[in-house]
Amino acid sequence: MKVLHVAAEVFPLVKTGGLADVVGALPQALARAGADVRLVLPGYPAIVDAVLHQKTIAELGPLFGAGRVALRLGTMPYSHVAAYVVDAPWLYRRSGGPYQAADGSEWPDNLQRFGLLGWMAAHLAAGEMDPEWMPQILHAHDWHAAMACAYLAAHPGSSASSVFTVHNLAFQGLFPQQDFGQLGLPLRFMQSHGVEFHGQLSFMKAGLKYAQRITTVSPTYAHEIATHEFGCGLDGVIRGRGGDVSGILNGVDGAVWDPATDSGLAARYSAQDLAGKPRNKAALQKEVGLATRPDAPLFGVVSRLTAQKGLDLVLAALPALLRSGAQLVVQGTGDPVLEAAFTAAAFSHPTQVAVRIGYDEVFAHRLIAGSDLIMVPSRFEPCGLTQLYGLRYGTLPLVRRVGGLADTVVDADEVAVRDGRATGFAFDAATPAALEAALLRAVQAYGAAPAWRRLITTAMAQDFSWDGAAGKYMSLYRGLQPARQ
Ligand code: ADP
Ligand code: GLC
Repeated sequence: MKVLHVAAEVFPLVKTGGLADVVGALPQALARAGADVRLVLPGYPAIVDAVLHQKTIAELGPLFGAGRVALRLGTMPYSHVAAYVVDAPWLYRRSGGPYQAADGSEWPDNLQRFGLLGWMAAHLAAGEMDPEWMPQILHAHDWHAAMACAYLAAHPGSSASSVFTVHNLAFQGLFPQQDFGQLGLPLRFMQSHGVEFHGQLSFMKAGLKYAQRITTVSPTYAHEIATHEFGCGLDGVIRGRGGDVSGILNGVDGAVWDPATDSGLAARYSAQDLAGKPRNKAALQKEVGLATRPDAPLFGVVSRLTAQKGLDLVLAALPALLRSGAQLVVQGTGDPVLEAAFTAAAFSHPTQVAVRIGYDEVFAHRLIAGSDLIMVPSRFEPCGLTQLYGLRYGTLPLVRRVGGLADTVVDADEVAVRDGRATGFAFDAATPAALEAALLRAVQAYGAAPAWRRLITTAMAQDFSWDGAAGKYMSLYRGLQPARQ
């Protein structure tokens, strides 16, 4: 089975969030499951400079405002997955983020940048770019890759099927409808049953309308996005796709996230030998300047600081956290108001609160290993990976019961504790009071050492491997293949 994955970020080369982790790990798991997987990626400097053994497959004239476009085939460093690089220097070779300039403004030519990515993916899938490799499945991730599904649908000669995965419905890739002409699609695509969305043009809707199958990254989020509350205006479109929509939970890349082998940690540990875990806590407290107290439960946050993540609830519950004697360490970047509020809290309570504004992958590992709990109080969460990393590192998640958080964390209520199933703490209402109640339960549980240890070992025994997820994607792909004559 030949499968082409289309995406705008990939760990460890370009990452703004969990999408990169998925695109880094899933193709490797699919390869282990027997698929012949390739990626197609935009040629940002970090990609062009790192992909190994690149050879030119096609040279194309001006496309999407880019003077010269070349398609190259190489190999991903670390994973050795084959990757096509869309080299269009005018569109991709610039400093700044994949979607935004350094000042946080969206790149003004994102329509062209991600239009080209989708166009190239569809033409690869149609066998027009690389005569030696023609995928049966084109698998596009999030709005940046979604136009691939529309271009494929517009292509008369293609036999490939398309799968579209929604990682976050809140980011939709909306553009003025008068720019539709630049996409080079037939006019019928710019209708309300096409990519038109309330007078704009929506890349996300292209994926939702034209892919043969839609997946999202947890079963609960698959249900949620069909509702008005979580549908971001697209719930009607999603309901219209009925049984074509399903949820497949993300996994954890055990080669990257494993406390027994993690070279960035102060001490390595495992469920069988937890001795290293308190050493990581002491090292983290020391590193960020908190009081080095083994008895104080240490809550960690590793997150984009955006409205999605519900971190305003953490700020509102901070007085209760401080009164309980707990500590908080935050690493994140995003909303300047949240950045300033966490920074101010650290300034006022230096022995109990520490904040690192920015993102450093190795520090994220140290933070997760050194904390006792990882807080993810999201307003919505398609899957969430940090709570999965927390489980793996014996760092108990404290989560709001939504999306993938609801699917992956078992609250330590009386019954689950008695049955030995509990792995963390969960709350329902998106209110400071609900978070506070869960936080105080966690603080109390932390004080009861043998029971706490049992929670840790149960958490660490959870299996969120990519191999399980890859098996589900493989069956989905097989279901799309025409039956053999
Ligand atoms: P999301 O993708 O919505 O941010 P996930 O929990 O799926 O949430 O994934 C978060 C991943 O991104 C983790 O690997 C985490 O370490 C990383 N991460 C968290 N904050 C940032 C950030 N500000 N920049 C880049 N990566 C981040
Ligand atoms: C998105 C979601 C997050 C998910 C990630 C990877 O960024 O916000 O919940 O884990 O994609 O699928």
